[in-house]
Amino acid sequence: MSAYRIPFNKPSLVGNELHYIAQCVHQGKISGDGPYTKKCEIFLEQTLGAPRVLLTTSCTHALEMAALLLNIQPGDEVIVPSFTFVSTVNAFVVRGARPIFSDIRPDTFNLDETKLESLVTRRTRAIVPVHYAGVGCEMDAILKIAERYDIAVVEDNAHGLFGKYKGKYLGTFGCLATQSFHETKNFSCGEGGALLINDPRYVERAEIIREKGTNRSRFFRGQVDKYTWIDLGSSYVPSDILAAFLYAQLEAREEIQARRMRIWKYYFEHLKNWAQDHNAKLPFVPADSEQSYHIFYLLMPSLQQRQALIGHLKSHGILSVFHYLPLHLSDMGRRFGGKQSDCPVTEVVSDRLVRLPFYNDLSEADQAFVVAAINEFDAR
Ligand SMILES: Cc1ncc(COP(=O)(O)O)c(C=O)c1O
Repeated sequence: MSAYRIPFNKPSLVGNELHYIAQCVHQGKISGDGPYTKKCEIFLEQTLGAPRVLLTTSCTHALEMAALLLNIQPGDEVIVPSFTFVSTVNAFVVRGARPIFSDIRPDTFNLDETKLESLVTRRTRAIVPVHYAGVGCEMDAILKIAERYDIAVVEDNAHGLFGKYKGKYLGTFGCLATQSFHETKNFSCGEGGALLINDPRYVERAEIIREKGTNRSRFFRGQVDKYTWIDLGSSYVPSDILAAFLYAQLEAREEIQARRMRIWKYYFEHLKNWAQDHNAKLPFVPADSEQSYHIFYLLMPSLQQRQALIGHLKSHGILSVFHYLPLHLSDMGRRFGGKQSDCPVTEVVSDRLVRLPFYNDLSEADQAFVVAAINEFDAR
């Protein structure tokens, strides 16, 4: 049980999760690449229009697979936003890459495409845009620069499943993209992820990397009569038990997204006036973007006010949280030369952002309680 009356996140069951898990066990196939893994992959391929989707043990591991697929070598440079989760960057750094930290746009908190070209060098091998809160990055501009310099684009779409940029699904722009099914995400199986392969040239090697560097996937399909070690790889295949849980959630896509849209809109409508009165900002979603309704945040006028609001909500039994400390100022980021003021927008946003409780089962009554508590807050 959470110590909070309203936790920040709570896993929920939408329907068939436990039934599918029981089926999976009774059918006697609980290791990876069983029927539910296939169902999830086909669902995502057909819905998103991605040529191939591979379920993975996490988004972190899908990003590691991307770094292996791109043959990232020591000394290669990878452009990443500083305002992101550590895995966006670390997955490339473990292959020896040097991260080049980009600042973010002050409106969407996505990688600032107007600064991108100035960060490109002859060593740049990849750009990794993150669709923060499931609001698309400016992909037209990013892809144009990537094409001009022949650089791979890997979308970290951990937040953005089923979001769209200019009518096209997030995760279908880069040659590769990654998803997360971690407990906090809209669609979850506790821990899990997926690699979206938009450039079919990567499919065969991706299957090998995911299967410990072996051609076991081809063996299972009867394409070779024994399997063997042929490349680098690791164990990136999730259990079919997790895929069974996930499939039940994916099947309920419309219902889950409708619930999350309602929650997001409730916060937005009921906090508009308060935000204006308190010099706080609500999320910005550009007109050509269809967001995934993953996060609801407030941008407070100062670090002190952000901390005071988190403390105030805590005293009401509500857990709200900040997000992403700037990676260029982390211990590892500083080892790569990161220093204060390198990414000024990131530094300000990181100080001031607060995320409100947001999960599929969050009731309107509980949201009303959160809104009432915020309305009581006055740090001026
Ligand atoms: C932007 C981003 N990328 C990657 C990850 C890592 O996801 P996972 O926990 O599935 O490895 C997260 C986690 O929340 C994230 O926010």
